[in-house]
Amino acid sequence: KRANDQLLVIFGASGDLTGRKLLPALFELFIGDMLPEHFAILGAARTAFTDDEFRAEQRKHILEARGNKETNSADLDRFLQILFYLAFDSTKSAEYVKLKDRVHLLLQQENIPDRIMYYLATPPLMYELVPKYLQENGMNVAESEDGWRRVIVEKPFGTSLETAQELNKHLCRIFDENEIYRIDHYLGKETVQNILVLRFSNGIFEPLWNRNYVDSVEISASETLGVENRGKYYDGAGALRDMIQNHLMQLMAFAAMESPAVFDPEPIRDEIVKVFRAIRPYTIREINEQVVRGQYDGYREEKNVAPDSNTETYVGMKFFIDNWRWSGVPFYFFTGKKLPEKSSEIVIHFKSTPHQLFAGQCSGSSCNKLVIRIQPDESITLRFGLKMPGAGFTVKQVGMEFRYDSLSKTHLPDAYERLLLDAMLGDSTLYARSDALEASWRFIDPILHHWKEEGSKNLFFYEPGQNGPLERMMLGADSAGDSCDSCG
Ligand code: BG6
Repeated sequence: KRANDQLLVIFGASGDLTGRKLLPALFELFIGDMLPEHFAILGAARTAFTDDEFRAEQRKHILEARGNKETNSADLDRFLQILFYLAFDSTKSAEYVKLKDRVHLLLQQENIPDRIMYYLATPPLMYELVPKYLQENGMNVAESEDGWRRVIVEKPFGTSLETAQELNKHLCRIFDENEIYRIDHYLGKETVQNILVLRFSNGIFEPLWNRNYVDSVEISASETLGVENRGKYYDGAGALRDMIQNHLMQLMAFAAMESPAVFDPEPIRDEIVKVFRAIRPYTIREINEQVVRGQYDGYREEKNVAPDSNTETYVGMKFFIDNWRWSGVPFYFFTGKKLPEKSSEIVIHFKSTPHQLFAGQCSGSSCNKLVIRIQPDESITLRFGLKMPGAGFTVKQVGMEFRYDSLSKTHLPDAYERLLLDAMLGDSTLYARSDALEASWRFIDPILHHWKEEGSKNLFFYEPGQNGPLERMMLGADSAGDSCDSCG
């Protein structure tokens, strides 16, 4: 599907995100013929590039991002022709006059109507300033009747409930809620969207998808990398803010929500917010007992990390959703850096049989499970016990598996491809709404406060390459987030 003609303005265009994710995604959309007919991208940042220098720079990034994929150089040349650049200082309101002139010129020159999408690929500090200066310079509202303005905001969206609320308030004074797209790249992943289709297009899973048949739900995202060169950001954030408040909470919402009456953005987002609001808030005692934080050995020696940092690089937690569907079913989150494997999964553990004939063999809730593997090797596997051939009754756990790579040569779009295209089309289904965001912060905030007060107390260390601190076992989860539940 092609979006309507429009101009995309990327703030922070000389940065890492633009080169690594945004322009490669836009190029894939270009070769897939999904970009608008009249379309241009204006990169804006402080580095003094000319249009051609910016294009040359982005050519490198795109080729690098495509890796071994063959690239037709004529396609790439044509794509780079719709790329423009403005060197400007986004921290000064007066500079926006320059931006405004360039935007007008581009709209005219490329025959684009008055529709502009702003992408804030900047440090979070600029999420307040850029919109403010756009407003001061009359660039936040369309000048013609069929025109529009939209803004895409990257994470982190606030660092606490209070700052997220302030940012929401600030943005909503400048843009309408339906013009604000808060990106969470996990929602752009194919397997994540497939949770909705798996659940709501099949009659066989939904009857089991509740407290009567589900024993527990585990949602994990493990990474092998450490903080790399992001120490400055990460040390102020930590795993709870970096992964759980956004990505894992969104995954959980898709796994736990009720079916919307229609498949439209607002009904879907209504269901998401209902899940967040039904999460049982922790007491201080429950934080101590049900949330485990860890830090990998060597973290404090990483670049731009405080030598006495108590920032968590690992979190394991158990919580409950107090509603009819999930009452009493434990949910778990596990995430961490420097773990043995890179993998993200949702595992639905089903209850065991009421009476066990083959005790000790594929019994209990780890026998029957549905593993939704988000990455890598995207797949969905149902695991259950069967008899091994031969004498006696030896039970073995087997799996019925669907793998994405079996969908022939289908191009598996990168999350940013999907999300950019959706925003261009005006579809906000896969973007976080302000009320959901605030509800997720409301759940997370007390943990952050408590940890701040505790300092290094109850911070557990683990060796790089281990599955996190051993204390995670205390949570009582079946696989305790140990990677590759689907590989077995
Ligand atoms: C980002 C976090 O949002 O997600 C990173 O800031 C993390 O710390 C990344 O590494 C993980 O994303 P993915 O898509 O590689 O699982």
